[in-house]
Amino acid sequence: MKTYKLLLLGLFCSIVGKAQETNIKSSVENVETKVDSVLALMTLEEKVGQMVQYSGSWDLTGPATGDQNQYREDRLKQGLVGSMLNVLSPEATREAQKLVMENSRLGIPLMIGYDVIHGYKTIFPVPLGETASWDLDAMERSARIAAIESVADGVNWTFSPMIDISRDARWGRIMEGSGEDPFLTSKVAVAKIKGYQGDDLADPTTIAATAKHFVGYGLAEAGRDYNTVHIGENEMHNTLLPPFKAAADAGVATVMNAFNDLDGIPATGHRILQRDILKGDWDWDGFIVSDWGSIIEMVNHGFARDRKHAAEIAVKAGSDMDMEGGAYENALEELVEEGEVDEELINDAVRRILRVKFKMGLFEDPYRYSNPDFAATVDYDEHREVAREIASKSIVLLKNEKELLPIKPSVKNIAVIGPLADDKDTPIGNWRAQGEANSAVSLLEGIRNAVGQDVNVTYAKGADLGMGERSFLKPLKINETDTSGFADAIAKAKEADLVVLALGEDAFQTGEGRSQVDIGLAGVQDELLQEIYKVNKNVVLVLQNGRPLEISWAAENVPAIVEAWLLGTESGNAIADVLFGKYNPSGKLPVSFPRAVGQEPLYYNQKNTGRPSNPTDVTYSAYTDEEKTALYPFGYGLSYTTFEYGDINLSSKEMTQEGSIEVTVPVTNSGSKAGREVVQLYLRDMVASTTRPVIELKGFELVDLQPGETKEVTFTITNDLLEFYNAEKKWTSEPGEFRVMVGGNSRDLKMDSFELQ
Ligand code: BGC
Repeated sequence: MKTYKLLLLGLFCSIVGKAQETNIKSSVENVETKVDSVLALMTLEEKVGQMVQYSGSWDLTGPATGDQNQYREDRLKQGLVGSMLNVLSPEATREAQKLVMENSRLGIPLMIGYDVIHGYKTIFPVPLGETASWDLDAMERSARIAAIESVADGVNWTFSPMIDISRDARWGRIMEGSGEDPFLTSKVAVAKIKGYQGDDLADPTTIAATAKHFVGYGLAEAGRDYNTVHIGENEMHNTLLPPFKAAADAGVATVMNAFNDLDGIPATGHRILQRDILKGDWDWDGFIVSDWGSIIEMVNHGFARDRKHAAEIAVKAGSDMDMEGGAYENALEELVEEGEVDEELINDAVRRILRVKFKMGLFEDPYRYSNPDFAATVDYDEHREVAREIASKSIVLLKNEKELLPIKPSVKNIAVIGPLADDKDTPIGNWRAQGEANSAVSLLEGIRNAVGQDVNVTYAKGADLGMGERSFLKPLKINETDTSGFADAIAKAKEADLVVLALGEDAFQTGEGRSQVDIGLAGVQDELLQEIYKVNKNVVLVLQNGRPLEISWAAENVPAIVEAWLLGTESGNAIADVLFGKYNPSGKLPVSFPRAVGQEPLYYNQKNTGRPSNPTDVTYSAYTDEEKTALYPFGYGLSYTTFEYGDINLSSKEMTQEGSIEVTVPVTNSGSKAGREVVQLYLRDMVASTTRPVIELKGFELVDLQPGETKEVTFTITNDLLEFYNAEKKWTSEPGEFRVMVGGNSRDLKMDSFELQ
């Protein structure tokens, strides 16, 4: 046993030594040589072992308890596990590595994975909320911080970013992604991957990222989690795949596949998607981890007879690692020995896994992420400051009439009311990693921190959300009917100059398995809102939620509405920064807010249809009982100042595929406060070989403007922005007219057009 390890060590020393001399330490060639050298030493059993991932179900710093844990510990010792997830702390991850390094024949280090979705200890806004900042630098920074805090706790691989396009507010996981637009989601994907992985995975303060879920998971039919996805090839290529292509091009280390089936094929067993497109056409060299048990779930899908059959389908389709499914460890060896699976497929998977491990520097030092002293060097206070800044930037001002906001110094009596007003847990959101329960700054605390002694702040809860016990896996019961707290709330509202009403969703109301048919304000919240409004019209409604909500009554009646998502650790301070004008809101919606749940799935980049409108009768594409447009459209958000857009100017009205056009627009801050505008560029391909969306985001710029100041914003249109997957199954542009639109949201736009020759 020892001979092999010495051999391996000798091999690395000589390769690393040589590499240092020639300064090609992390060159592709060098990594490939090392990968092949290790692979050549491995038995089939050891190779399959690399393709197995376990969740840490016991305390690794103590003896394993129970048969299953003992079995798993033995497998680690034999080098038959490639990765663990949910093992936390430098001590526990060191113990896990030690079991492998000190006992197994080859000593191939483990990757330690965890769902670090929006921060590790310091919690940032949920991804949907953070995307509303449109601030890619900020998003990269929060991922960087999450990586550092993960490393401090022994974690070296995150299952993030989730880049599923989601257009359905009923789907609980909409909060985990970047919303409905492929262009914006692609940009966020790249920023996040850069934040997690840095420029070099070998830097021990970076972690491996995962683009998930490949693919289609966000389009679950009827918004019901895990449900079937019906998607045509054209839509797949034009809407779902672009963020993954961007992630692959950005060098994401791993991709996770998905629970759903698409057009009859489970994503986990989808050879065309995984082998042909991702690993073939895109030439991506990372590895695919299954979603939790998604290989074995192919039996439930009715796509595999049993575990062995599921393993066979998955490996042939290109799924490289089995997360907690037990399919690979129990069946793959046999399948190879029986000649059902070519060992080359196993070699390909293992090569990919080893490649990532080499790039992470795990072979040079398997304990590099298990350093108990590293945590002491982490500046958690500074991280909180960044969290506050990013949370402020993520807030979207939906409505502001009567100039209620920012709250004026003349306001001396503020009633803070609502089930979420003093809730220190909800802002932490779901998928909270090691964010502590009840550790957020509540809205009430934030307001109290912000006001001086001369402002009287009263508080009444009014009602409960009625979610029952909070936890990741507990089912929710949204059944609150208790209005006994209303009287106190109404009394306090009556006495106040202004009411800040905090309504929305519980921390665990969005996330996995949290689909809903009703996306209104749960429980008695609507009733509370209407009762408060009866006694005091100066209501600022602050929403904390992870999905677009149906808030038509509020939108019509309440003068000011602030969308504050689930903003994380510094939530209350960030909201107060916006309420009192310390931060002038600049967020824009990454997702459409519906007028009614019946509009879902709702998204701005729709097709025109053959009957977009008809002034004379009802026979066109619309609803008879509601408008078809969004209540608040994609890209929408107000500021305390106003921005005026001048006419757009195109450098030419004609473009060739090799050429480009500059689109320039003057944007003026026409109000009295300094502010930031997200200037958005949209295009429409007027006639093509397939129908095209009426509008598609193709660029955006964040512009800071002083009162009265004008800046010219320039976008460059190049051929890649005009390309799409066309009727001939080619990614290309087609000649013809393109409409150019620029504005501060997807509805209010300046237009011009040009011709692609
Ligand atoms: C989720 C994944 C997650 C995995 C590991 C699954 O249920 O769908 O997104 O990464 O669990 O926790």
